[in-house]
Amino acid sequence: MTKVIVVIGAGSIGPAIARRVGSGKHVLLADISHNAADADAKVLENAGFAVSTATVDISLRRSVEALVETATRIGTVTGVIHAAGLSPSQAAPATILRVDLYGTALVLELFGNVISDGGSGVVIASQSGHRLPALTPEQNKALATTPTEDLLALPMLAPDKVTDPLNAYQISKRGNALRVMAEALRWGKRGARLNAISPGIIITPLANDELSGPRGDGYRRMLQLSPAGRAGTPDEVGTVGALLMSDDGAFITGSDFLMDGGVTASFFFGELAPK
Ligand SMILES: NC(=O)c1ccc[n+]([C@@H]2O[C@H](COP(=O)([O-])OP(=O)(O)OC[C@H]3O[C@@H](n4cnc5c(N)ncnc54)[C@H](O)[C@@H]3O)[C@@H](O)[C@H]2O)c1
Repeated sequence: MTKVIVVIGAGSIGPAIARRVGSGKHVLLADISHNAADADAKVLENAGFAVSTATVDISLRRSVEALVETATRIGTVTGVIHAAGLSPSQAAPATILRVDLYGTALVLELFGNVISDGGSGVVIASQSGHRLPALTPEQNKALATTPTEDLLALPMLAPDKVTDPLNAYQISKRGNALRVMAEALRWGKRGARLNAISPGIIITPLANDELSGPRGDGYRRMLQLSPAGRAGTPDEVGTVGALLMSDDGAFITGSDFLMDGGVTASFFFGELAPK
């Protein structure tokens, strides 16, 4: 039976991981933008991968259900790479929560129903989730385990509580890592693994929007004062994704990997620490 790797988010990071794990499998590339999916599919096809595309809006249950149907019609889903999302400069707080938090929960719930024995998934969270001050144990549990359809009704996510797009993004990304922990238990019952990667600034169209947006100067300072002194590349995230999705990562599940060139370390204990 054909092994299917589903890539949600035809941006830069998802396909970079797919290139590392998609050889000999069918790569189903899904995005809200058909043009984005088609463009990336062409690049992958020209590099020898078997690819098809689908349109999906991860903020709509019926749309993700349709993607699951498409994937399972092609074959057995052995891998899920969830790399679709909106950055703080791209949308209002409510939209960011709907796409980045609810959408991720939906993807993990619905693909967790079909992932194969021995399969694995990786979710792209963000260093931003590590920057958010600690939540209470009750808030952590709520983000991790509240049924998907009730998530956005949590009092902590009310419009008068989350008024800033960056805060919405940070909560969503913290929520992604917590959700991955909880879902890894359910995926584990099917013999599958699930992890998150929390990248720092990785040069992609999304990051370029941030670097040329209102927070651009702050991001440049962040990179200059970090141990690595530069942004990352999608291929470097691809390397970590490949480890997590391969047999070499067989003991790793329910984890979140911060890879940010040391920005967060500097933010807490170095030159980036708030004075
Ligand atoms: N680039 C970075 O610096 C960086 C850092 C940390 C985390 N991330 C995260 O990595 C993920 C991928 O980002 P990227 O940098 O490759 O960006 P990108 O903009 O290249 O890709 C994101 C893709 O998500 C798609 N998308 C947006 N809303 C969608 C929806 N509702 N349904 C389906 N697809 C949708 C977009 O069309 C786009 O193709 C995002 O979740 C982002 O938050 C990126």
